[in-house]
Amino acid sequence: MTYARIVGTGSYLPPRVMTNDEFAARLDTSDAWIRSRTGIAQRHIAGKSQASSDLALEASSRALEASGLKASQIDLIIVATSTPDYIFPSTACLLQAKLGVKGCPAFDVQAVCSGFVYGLATADALIRSGQYKTALVVGAEVFSRILDWNDRGTCVLFGDGAGAVVLAAASAPGIHASVLHADGSQVDLLSVPGNVCGGAIVGSPFLQMNGQGVFKFAVRVLEEVARETVAAAGMSMAQVDWLIPHQANVRILEATARKLGLPAEKLVVTVDHHGNTSAASVPLALDEFVCAGRIRPGHRVLMEGVGGGFTWGASLATL
Ligand code: ACO
Repeated sequence: MTYARIVGTGSYLPPRVMTNDEFAARLDTSDAWIRSRTGIAQRHIAGKSQASSDLALEASSRALEASGLKASQIDLIIVATSTPDYIFPSTACLLQAKLGVKGCPAFDVQAVCSGFVYGLATADALIRSGQYKTALVVGAEVFSRILDWNDRGTCVLFGDGAGAVVLAAASAPGIHASVLHADGSQVDLLSVPGNVCGGAIVGSPFLQMNGQGVFKFAVRVLEEVARETVAAAGMSMAQVDWLIPHQANVRILEATARKLGLPAEKLVVTVDHHGNTSAASVPLALDEFVCAGRIRPGHRVLMEGVGGGFTWGASLATL
């Protein structure tokens, strides 16, 4: 039996840090309001010349270094992003070129904040099938580009960044199980309902959100899909060492852990200093805890995504 194992993690945050006080200086909001409703204290914002592929390159280079593999040894590249550099080619193809390799398949996954988990599940299936032996799965976002910076209800929530994992075929798990879902009827909860047509933007190029609707939906499905995934792996929740939910809002994270009966010590929280980095949030959090020596080889990690679409999913892996 072949499994896919995470053999390296990496991440990148642009150097510019934006605090809540910077919003309070020009919008009707406050550090206290943002912290109490979201748990967010700061986020990183990409420089003008930095695109998702640039953030992805930094995260990928670090993940490759941690894995001991060279870019030329990667059989498959998947980038999860909702803020691609171009309409086409894909950010994955741009990343491949920046890594200085060619030949292996490279494509983007568009599942908004669930994108990394969708990409991980896809790469896992392709490695298990025997088609590929290695894969690079990246979440990279510059959400700062699709925010209305005058809308206090949305602009305070997000940040930019990238996270990456290298997967390799192994004789033992690795990834035990993944479960993915979508419900396209929930499109109005969260969207950027614009596109480019005839040289102009048609519709809105800014993120729109029903905050309370997202909150309720996220808490429900994060609990459901965590239970489904642990059951699919033939395990119990007590065997999970770490829960890494998509880092949307600390209240969503804490409610999810509470409903699953997981103690606060098992919950990974980085939203306080990263903000919501959409598809990048789970691999960024994973890498931060791996680098800090908190998530260690042998630990079982339950990673969860939920986002626009609506999409949601989870993946349980032993590191
Ligand atoms: N500062 C001050 N006041 C604000 C701000 C702000 N930044 N944003 C909204 N308010 C105001 C509202 O205008 C409203 O004022 P009103 O009562 O005068 O109308 C008041 O605060 C309450 O607004 P609510 O929307 O009811 O506030 P709520 O407690 O629901 O918090 C929030 C809003 C933080 C957006 C919350 O609903 C939430 O976190 N939802 C989840 C959204 C999320 O995580 N989105 C991420 C993308 S989706 C994903 O990643 C899965």
